[in-house]
Amino acid sequence: MNQEQLKQAVARAAIDYITPKLTPDSIIGIGTGSTANFFIDDLAAHKKQFKAAVASSDASEERLKAHGITVIDLNDAPKLALYIDGADETNAHLELIKGGGAALTREKIVAAAATEFICIADASKQVETLGNFPLPVEVIPMARAYVARELQALGGTPIYREGVITDNGGHILDVHDLAITQPIELETQINHITGVITNGLFAKRSADVLLLGTEQGVTVHSKGKT
Ligand code: A5P
Repeated sequence: MNQEQLKQAVARAAIDYITPKLTPDSIIGIGTGSTANFFIDDLAAHKKQFKAAVASSDASEERLKAHGITVIDLNDAPKLALYIDGADETNAHLELIKGGGAALTREKIVAAAATEFICIADASKQVETLGNFPLPVEVIPMARAYVARELQALGGTPIYREGVITDNGGHILDVHDLAITQPIELETQINHITGVITNGLFAKRSADVLLLGTEQGVTVHSKGKT
């Protein structure tokens, strides 16, 4: 199976995982990216089984609406039972790097608000140590050069993702050359740099469950039991 087929398989497995949990009142958070897109397309057949979705990007909102799925603002969601999203990297603790699609800030907000975060990824995303994938950092545009210098001081090599403006009007720095052995500490440290909106480490709020698409089938990993 190629990577696209693995993403499709894991999206289907996510449907099987979440549908028994859905009630007519459920509001579910939806991620961003190609794996999340496969999930959205499969979710359409189940749209009568839940109340509404909260999207983590304008792109996902558009795709959900195109399928006739009701999308509401997070501020209008009293409770978010589930959040389903892809990742750029995951380690054995289900700590993630996200933001390859520049949607990291809204993804982090929706993940924070959700009771259960289900990460869906193909096997290429599983790594021993996070950081081979450059860490996306969203910044206030006027702070870009300053933040880049601070990230250099932390040992990283930040590269400006030119031409990309996030849904929040931010810019993205992709930070290379970080071997992330202490994800929670680094996530906190980077978020404390003035001008940073957020960074793509999902360590303080890691995934609760990982569905991983492998050649041998989809494997299920729970936090603390991987
Ligand atoms: C979007 O900003 C990202 O966090 C995505 O979740 C991540 O890049 C995974 O994308 P794919 O599912 O396209 O690999």
